[in-house]
Amino acid sequence: MTKFLIPCEETLGESRVSATPETVKKLKTLGCEIFIEKSAGELSGFNDFSYEKNGGVIFSKNDNNAWETADIIFCINCPDEERLKKLKKGALIIGLLNPFGNKPLAQHLFDQNLSAISLELLPRISRAQSCDVLSSQANIAGYKSVLLAASELDRYFPMLMTAAGTVQPAKVVVLGGGVAGLQAVATAKRLGALVFVSDIRPAVKEQVESLGAKFIKLPEIEEKPSESGGYAKAVSSKFLEEQRQILSEHLSEADVAICTAQVLGKKAPILINEKMLQKMRPGSVVVDLAVSQGGNCVNTEPNETIIYKGVKLIGAPDLPASVPYHASSLYARNLNSLITPFIKEGNLDLDKNDEIIQGCLISDKGAILQEKVFEIGGGN
Ligand code: NAI
Repeated sequence: MTKFLIPCEETLGESRVSATPETVKKLKTLGCEIFIEKSAGELSGFNDFSYEKNGGVIFSKNDNNAWETADIIFCINCPDEERLKKLKKGALIIGLLNPFGNKPLAQHLFDQNLSAISLELLPRISRAQSCDVLSSQANIAGYKSVLLAASELDRYFPMLMTAAGTVQPAKVVVLGGGVAGLQAVATAKRLGALVFVSDIRPAVKEQVESLGAKFIKLPEIEEKPSESGGYAKAVSSKFLEEQRQILSEHLSEADVAICTAQVLGKKAPILINEKMLQKMRPGSVVVDLAVSQGGNCVNTEPNETIIYKGVKLIGAPDLPASVPYHASSLYARNLNSLITPFIKEGNLDLDKNDEIIQGCLISDKGAILQEKVFEIGGGN
């Protein structure tokens, strides 16, 4: 009978949990046992009793046995070294393991003969959509980034006709029209803003227009940005320079910039440089969701708000954790969707030839499968 372990997340600022009473109940009906660390779901609104009521078993922090006997560890962030060391040979860790350039992680997996699925590497195929934690969490980040900007902005978002005169709608520029960017567009439109979007994947134009936003034209140079597996590939510095020139005009009239542009496994492109910031209106707000990958805007810092010549720069790497109930609920369902096809009568039977598993299994009982990802950062 497969034993699942759901840990308390120990990363600073993390309030999500990798299983909910709903998903524990489903795993239980598959014939599995589920051990949940005491208080693991508390910050997401799930108490220990609600897990127990649905068939989970609560274990205390000092209970090493739960770690030593677990077959599958569902997590948001990778457990720390001390916890990894408790795991038995062949245990499977599934979570956002941050494998890019992470040689120490590869070493741990190798030394302890551990298996690991890194959800950052889930292939972007239709069948994988229900398991895609990057999408479920990016959606939340996009939504929350706009609410954050609206609450920090010195103006209204919607156009208003009042007895005291007309208020013009806010102008929002969204950089990157992927999952987070499109949700930011939809949220800003609902609040009544005028929205403009820049992305290098041409397919995004139609998507943003269908949401009522305007697509900012791409540089007219020979190089055509390409993509692979749904992800944009990095563009040249010449392309970025031209792109910044085009964006500069839009940003000088903007009230809000939402930065979501990323290239998998690489540093985020700088789309707002110092000169562009200086042209932005004092009182305007930049929310940088790409800040952990270096940021799309210069001078942003993770979890800090910096005022730069009157412009508020907000570095927001962890917005999904600020909506922990729904972030956890969706994440936990994503994990269940991923593992359910491979549980047969309560036992794990992982098909390593399955396209989804092949894409994101980074270690099989200590055999490192995606060395490139650990070494050079992978991606494109
Ligand atoms: P992401 O988080 O890696 O990047 C965000 C956006 O930044 C992307 O749209 C990318 O094109 C854009 N970007 C990169 N460099 C840029 C630059 N210099 N300027 C402006 N924008 C730039 O990507 P995300 O949001 O995770 O997904 C991208 C696409 O992948 C989605 O729109 C969707 O079409 C596809 N997808 C497919 C899935 C599936 O089929 N299972 C699941 C999730 C996404």
